Amino acid sequence: MNTNGAAVVQLIDVQKTYRTGEMEVRAVRGVSLEIQRGEFVALMGSSGSGKSTLMNMLGALDRPTAGRYLLDGVDVSKLSRDELADIRNGKLGFVFQSFNLLPRTTARENVELPLLYGKHQLTNRQLREKADRILSAVGLEGREEHTPSQLSGGQQQRVAIGRALINDPEVLLADEPTGNLDSRTSVEIMGIFQALNERGMTIVMVTHEPDIASYAQRNVVMRDGLVKSDLPVARRLLATTELEKIAPLEEELAGAKE
Ligand SMILES: Nc1ncnc2c1ncn2[C@@H]1O[C@H](COP(=O)(O)OP(=O)(O)O)[C@@H](O)[C@H]1O
Ligand SMILES: [Mg+2]
Repeated sequence: MNTNGAAVVQLIDVQKTYRTGEMEVRAVRGVSLEIQRGEFVALMGSSGSGKSTLMNMLGALDRPTAGRYLLDGVDVSKLSRDELADIRNGKLGFVFQSFNLLPRTTARENVELPLLYGKHQLTNRQLREKADRILSAVGLEGREEHTPSQLSGGQQQRVAIGRALINDPEVLLADEPTGNLDSRTSVEIMGIFQALNERGMTIVMVTHEPDIASYAQRNVVMRDGLVKSDLPVARRLLATTELEKIAPLEEELAGAKE
């Protein structure tokens, strides 16, 4: 195991057991995993293999029953609920299968949302400018005032990605981000992920589609709560057209960091 300081995620023999009455489900039974800064990992495995449970722990939404989870050097397994919320708001970005945008709320407001009540130094105007820069970076310039019902599925997922980026996360976590999208739109979303990853973003994405997983750099496959295989992607697919389309992303995100 690589134990240098660059791992942004370190899972050490992590376990999660659900207890409901008499029933005990060992959803994750001892997973050790290191993810280096700048990696793009696809987490795979059949239904019930423990992917979402593992993602909930990676996302500091839930604590392991046993084992340790170090995120950016911080032992998340020992934190209180409030401290977990701080970690989520400060270090993580989330993208979901069903987008989870607020209805009747503009794209810009959806992107601003994570910072609206959080601790940050931005004025309302700076926040708005940052949201607009990110929207433009994900290809939604001119759509700032559109509500989710006025946007296609792919556009809604772009807004959700923008919302995940507004707090400059250390890790982007995505659970089946293309699960509700057609294949062409899915590849566009993979183009955005690859562009973000090229610019240093660490991404962990759950998918059950092998072709979608081929856009990542590394495929981790789970079975029965354990990692069954963990391999680099042999022939990584590149969503090149989309990379070109959102080429200014580097400047946009650099600007957004100010
Ligand atoms: N909140 C829960 N309470 C009890 N059992 C759960 C809960 N969440 C998941 N499980 C069980 O844990 C196992 C792994 O589920 P999950 O992590 O959702 O797998 P996947 O995302 O790979 O489909 C399954 O047997 C599932 O039924
Ligand atoms: Mg799941």
